[in-house]
Amino acid sequence: MLLGTQSVNAQGHLEIGGCDTVELAKEFGTPLYVIDEATIRANCRNYKAAFDKRYPQNRIYYASKAFLTLATARIVMQEGLNMDVASMGELYVALQAGCPPERLAMHGNNKSLRELEMAVETGVGHIVIDNFLEIEVLAGVVKNANRKVEVLIRATPGVDPHTHRLIRTGQADTKFGLNIADGSALKAVKRILEIPELSFQGVHCHIGSQLLDSETHEQAVEIMVNLLATIQKETGITVPEINIGGGLGVRYLSSHEPPSYDAFAERITNSLKSALDRAGIAYPILGQEPGRALVAEAGTTLYTIGSIKTVPTTEQAGKRTYVAIDGGMSDNPRPQLYESVYECMVANKADQTADNIVTIAGKHCETDILIWNTPIAQPETGDILAVQTTGAYNHGMASNYNRFLRPAAVLVNEGNADIIVARERLENLTQNEVLPERLKG
Ligand code: LLP
Repeated sequence: MLLGTQSVNAQGHLEIGGCDTVELAKEFGTPLYVIDEATIRANCRNYKAAFDKRYPQNRIYYASKAFLTLATARIVMQEGLNMDVASMGELYVALQAGCPPERLAMHGNNKSLRELEMAVETGVGHIVIDNFLEIEVLAGVVKNANRKVEVLIRATPGVDPHTHRLIRTGQADTKFGLNIADGSALKAVKRILEIPELSFQGVHCHIGSQLLDSETHEQAVEIMVNLLATIQKETGITVPEINIGGGLGVRYLSSHEPPSYDAFAERITNSLKSALDRAGIAYPILGQEPGRALVAEAGTTLYTIGSIKTVPTTEQAGKRTYVAIDGGMSDNPRPQLYESVYECMVANKADQTADNIVTIAGKHCETDILIWNTPIAQPETGDILAVQTTGAYNHGMASNYNRFLRPAAVLVNEGNADIIVARERLENLTQNEVLPERLKG
């Protein structure tokens, strides 16, 4: 499959953003995250437009955890989106990128006092409260602030999306949020209303990630509208915002068919409007926090192929070919964590038939298989392998395991390539280490 601005040029090389990926690998080295700026911009615009058309009172927060760098924060801000941050570190990077604090939302299921203080001091737009402890800690923090601090509560709707068990969050049995069914969500709202420095702005949920249909979102919308109705009935207030989090899936494989933004928006806004109409509630702001859907397909990781080994197996006509690359679980832990699947191609043979079934292996001291049994053109040592759909949760979840250096990221657009994350250097590996005096000599 070719995604975003990907194409095959006259030399048979994969091109992204008008840049030949084989040249990018030569210039910047591998592994390399190649980020397609035009695709991120188009995704931001199209996602927003799909909702603007159908439900103008909407707000899109990019879930920055998917891929946060100074450059990506700038791009989504320039496209008019807001952004969610889920830790002090994400808040710091967002502010360093120049994001206006009022366009940020602060998340976290166990925010520290320091994180809450930082959110209040820097003036983030709103804080999404996860639990009762947080209400009390925040109450202490805002006592000294001379302004009202806007908050939403994160509620658990009790729906179970069809996705990997480690990225499901909407079910009742989760560490996240305040249960709706057992009355915790309502109780939290009532407590917030007692604190004069807090301004209650709405309800939030996030049900899961990489969802390839909108069914569970629609169920959640229904439940969240009922929660809104209960809050209004019990407290007499009008709830300004209903935020349904992120979760829309992307194409990791050609066979994946996530709903288009328009199809998703149509289903979500129809369910929302009909539930609101039935409950006789005025239309609140619809908030959302897409992460993966905006950046995943904009990222491609380039590797260099090293060792190629064919071994006997009881499967597949008796043999399997392992194609080893110069990265693996340190730049992409997702296959290990979630059994995630990917497609790839030999970037310097993008015009050749992919008729060799091989297994792409990382170079860590682990069985870090990136892709099992995938078709590629005849691989040779020195070829450049391009793994697609690595724009979300790859850079952000990268590690230094086996003391690997985290890769560089390069932003490509209309033939230009700019480094946005420099490749780590060996010196970085020990910069935070201290050798106690007594171990010297
Ligand atoms: N809002 C909240 C509160 C979230 O926790 C998340 C994701 C999002 C929005 C964005 O979800 P998205 O639109 O990207 O699905 N590391 C995992 C994904 C974990 C998602 C965590 N929360 C992975 O690589 O699949």
